[in-house]
Amino acid sequence: MSLSHPGSPEPERLEPKSPEPERLKPGLLFPQPAPPRPEQVQALFNRIAPVYDQLNDQLSFGLHRVWKRMAVSWVGLQPGQVALDLCCGTGDLALLLAQQVGAQGQVYGLDFAWELLAVAEQRAERDRPRPAILWQQGDALNLAFEDQFFDGATLGYGLRNVGDIPRCLAELYRVLKPGARATILDMNRPISDFSGVLRQFQSWYLDNLVLPNATRLGVREEYAYINPSIERFPLGPEQVKLAQAAGFRQATYYPLALGLMGALVLER
Ligand SMILES: C[S@@+](CC[C@H](N)C(=O)[O-])C[C@H]1O[C@@H](n2cnc3c(N)ncnc32)[C@H](O)[C@@H]1O
Repeated sequence: MSLSHPGSPEPERLEPKSPEPERLKPGLLFPQPAPPRPEQVQALFNRIAPVYDQLNDQLSFGLHRVWKRMAVSWVGLQPGQVALDLCCGTGDLALLLAQQVGAQGQVYGLDFAWELLAVAEQRAERDRPRPAILWQQGDALNLAFEDQFFDGATLGYGLRNVGDIPRCLAELYRVLKPGARATILDMNRPISDFSGVLRQFQSWYLDNLVLPNATRLGVREEYAYINPSIERFPLGPEQVKLAQAAGFRQATYYPLALGLMGALVLER
């Protein structure tokens, strides 16, 4: 496999660590699990690589494919341009970006989980014509790209996992050209009149439909993290403020799927 490692040494392959002690949040009756450390997230995504695509389809009834197409169309790339898929996983968004920029363009798919990158690379190798994608192992919080390098970017279901959201947004801002757009797609907690009922449904769905499937595929623990990660994730309006603080000229949040999902569209 020919993954490139831009400038930085390959991170140590870390064994999963024992879970951190649970901590109590003020005002909450139940203990909330502490956010996992970056090396735990990395190990988690490496472990789920063989079943990631299968569970993604089940988790969203295949709808993630529609949302990903929308995300890419909002970036508005032209043939010949250079694009980034940050936290690319198995490469769904990178492959769509490559269709937009064509053979004369270039897409970089970056992730810190090498097992997912290996799946991404195998998928791209099967595609004809061969997409112009370079797969790179790297940290979304410390990108090894020059300033103002990209004409557009996507970040699918990764911002919730990066550990330091302001830092990730600052890095994304840094590597985009002035006027370039990025779409950040992720799950979220609904904010509407029915948000309580919808959030309950979301929790029930994750615990009773997604988790049993993950258990059957041997990755129960890995999928149990999704619900707490949604609970911790900033809501749409907070994401807009964080993006503005990172420097983005325009930031608009579009709720999708009754707010269970959302797209943050940014312009540098
Ligand atoms: C839920 S997956 C999403 C994958 C893909 N974008 C998709 O939409 O299917 C989240 C990805 O973020 C990656 N990730 C999380 N934190 C990261 C970081 N600090 N640097 C690079 N990748 C990271 C994980 O390895 C994982 O592949």
